[in-house]
Amino acid sequence: MVESNDDLEIKILRNAEVQEASAEYVDKLFCKSNSDFEVVAILRKLALDRIYHEMIENPDEFKEKPQLSSGERWDGKKPAGPRDFLKKRIALPSLPQVLIQIQNVINDPDSSASDLAEVISMDPKLVAAILRLANSAMFNFRTEVDTPTRAVALLGFKQAGSLALGTVSLSLFKRSKNAVLEVEKFWKHSIACGIIAQEIARAVKLGDPERFFVSGLLHDIGLYVLFESEKSLAVELVRLANESAESLYDAERELLGFDHAILGGVIIKDWSFPRSLVIAAAGHHSPEKAKEDPDAGVVHVADYAARSLGYDLGISPVLGNLDEAAWDNIGITVNQFAGLIPQFKLLIDEIFEILSSE
Ligand SMILES: [Fe+2]
Ligand SMILES: [Fe+2]
Repeated sequence: MVESNDDLEIKILRNAEVQEASAEYVDKLFCKSNSDFEVVAILRKLALDRIYHEMIENPDEFKEKPQLSSGERWDGKKPAGPRDFLKKRIALPSLPQVLIQIQNVINDPDSSASDLAEVISMDPKLVAAILRLANSAMFNFRTEVDTPTRAVALLGFKQAGSLALGTVSLSLFKRSKNAVLEVEKFWKHSIACGIIAQEIARAVKLGDPERFFVSGLLHDIGLYVLFESEKSLAVELVRLANESAESLYDAERELLGFDHAILGGVIIKDWSFPRSLVIAAAGHHSPEKAKEDPDAGVVHVADYAARSLGYDLGISPVLGNLDEAAWDNIGITVNQFAGLIPQFKLLIDEIFEILSSE
């Protein structure tokens, strides 16, 4: 069908409107970032392109959302710290037996690969997840992995243990009673952060890249717990971040005196998970405090990249800042990183499919 001049004119006007709206959206998204920093400039350009197309294809997604309401206002009492908050306001899920057994095996210097395979074998859902992960594009093994024993042999004891730990832990966070945080978005974001962290670690040859995948999977556990604790608090945090155009973790620091990263670190530490996971979660929004370990810095960069590439939580309009020292510490070049970006989507979609299927 040939377009009439009127149709064409409407289309041009509409495109100009969308161009303006997408530029405004991206300006806000990056308002706390240094857009002169090369990798930020690249991510910003990609975000502008993506948002423009998403606004054309799915304009409803960008309509002003109705104000969230919790029915009652948050009582505004600042907790004494993350532990006080956990003690008074939260009933954490108890760790499933299989998770405790995985930990026991990982932490026992005398345990062997067959002990780990045996523990994994006791949980059919975990077996399915580990086999599908081992056969995914994340690893590219040339042979088919069809038993937990084979998976542990190919992945190695440490990696298989940490993958099992991450997989079972993430599955504890599957429901949302408050509905302020969308669980699907939370999972996609967590997986995206894990994949990007792992690919960065692989590119610069940091040991155990799978450890970074698991760090990414679990980095925002504190955010989930915070948002599920009280709806009135979650609503207040989203309102504050939106109205003051600040990142969510700044809003948390303002209201509570600590952020979800610190809270997540405390939870993971209390669960006696490996130290690298504690550091990554606790330091992902303040990597300058954990410079000696690469974990917090890599997850910080991966988290920033995931959100700017569209794997965000859908609750905060501002990205926060990319810590330039954390980026420099990793030692990845901008070209190296830009070269990784095109493969992220396929990997993220595949791993999301695997981990979110029951
Ligand atoms: Fe975070
Ligand atoms: Fe995050």
